[in-house]
Amino acid sequence: MTNTSIHDPHSSQRVQQLFEEQRALPLLIQEMKDGVLVCDKNRHVLLFNDALKNLLSLNNSVLNQSFERIIPSPELEQALTLVLTSGKASTQELTLTHNNRIFYFHVHLIPLTVTDQVDGCVAIFHDETAIRRTEKMRRDFVANVSHELRTPLSAIHGYAETLLDGALDDREIAWDFVKVIFRHSKRLSQLVTDLLDLSKLESPDFEPELDPMSLPHLIRKVHTLAESSTQGKRLTLFIHLPDNLPDVMANRSNLEQVLTNLLDNAIKYTPEGGKIAISAFETQDQSGHSIVQVNVTDTGIGLEAKHAARLFERFYRVDKARSREMGGTGLGLSIVKHIIQYHGGDIWVESTPEKGSTFSFTLRIADESD
Ligand SMILES: Nc1ncnc2c1ncn2[C@@H]1O[C@H](COP(=O)(O)OP(=O)(O)OP(=O)(O)O)[C@@H](O)[C@H]1O
Ligand SMILES: [Mg+2]
Repeated sequence: MTNTSIHDPHSSQRVQQLFEEQRALPLLIQEMKDGVLVCDKNRHVLLFNDALKNLLSLNNSVLNQSFERIIPSPELEQALTLVLTSGKASTQELTLTHNNRIFYFHVHLIPLTVTDQVDGCVAIFHDETAIRRTEKMRRDFVANVSHELRTPLSAIHGYAETLLDGALDDREIAWDFVKVIFRHSKRLSQLVTDLLDLSKLESPDFEPELDPMSLPHLIRKVHTLAESSTQGKRLTLFIHLPDNLPDVMANRSNLEQVLTNLLDNAIKYTPEGGKIAISAFETQDQSGHSIVQVNVTDTGIGLEAKHAARLFERFYRVDKARSREMGGTGLGLSIVKHIIQYHGGDIWVESTPEKGSTFSFTLRIADESD
């Protein structure tokens, strides 16, 4: 039982009084999450609440201006005319472009009838932008996943079919075809592993354990593993670590995944003869707290600034064909970003085409108390 059920005989009386004195209504309108706007029958805006003010960045100077000046939409204007003439409520979908972003609203127009004629209209704006964006992201995601699955699946299907149709008898061809099938099945299984990782990281129940840990040991381990997997390329790998790097708060296996992914990319996107360095150092965040920053720098192909912000999105690849050819799924950096985010850190990239890239991330320092 909650406190609200404690009996107070005067409470309903007070609420009733609030309504009778008409003080409740402005309060209600002000506190509503939906945007509310009231106009008279000449379509002059008489009031709007804070929610609408924030949604459309309005200021009080728009009061008494015409409805259509504040919300420039021919469809809504037409619907308003109909409400004001017919006295019947109506519902309208509204798409507005504001500060270069698209917003979606579900608008209810309700006539205000004081005498027997319509004196004005109340418009209630329900913001559906976030839902629409999430729906679009989900649709895009399903489309992307299906597309990514289709490529290796149809290759496996095609080569297996050719083998069954007789190619199996030619040992040399059969050998090559099975190798292709093997490569594509590896890609499929990598894709599924990455998708499962992502869905785990995005799950609201996901609560990773963060423990104080020393970075140098992990960096050396990942560096050694990377050295043996430079894909036969002549690359030089360096480590730069200060002597007294403080311990960080991290989940060991996830942090290893981050470093492995960044090094794997550096190796993939750096041509023969290139250099790759991992460095870590203590620095401060914007509010002056000590943090540790890790940089993975390469002298590789780099990328243009327009790609930098989108690189951490799922399936985003600068050169789709090239990445796929190398067995990439385009999920690596989005997994990395999720991991760094739940560690409370930041991740970003600085890059110059043809010169190379530096991927940097930050981690919280372990307190003595941790
Ligand atoms: N060090 C780098 N230098 C240049 N471009 C890079 C680098 N790291 C990543 N990129 C670009 O960012 C894209 C996304 O990287 P991400 O790691 O998410 O995917 P991927 O490497 O293509 O595949 P995978 O999911 O297997 O890692 C890459 O396709 C590539 O275009
Ligand atoms: Mg990658």
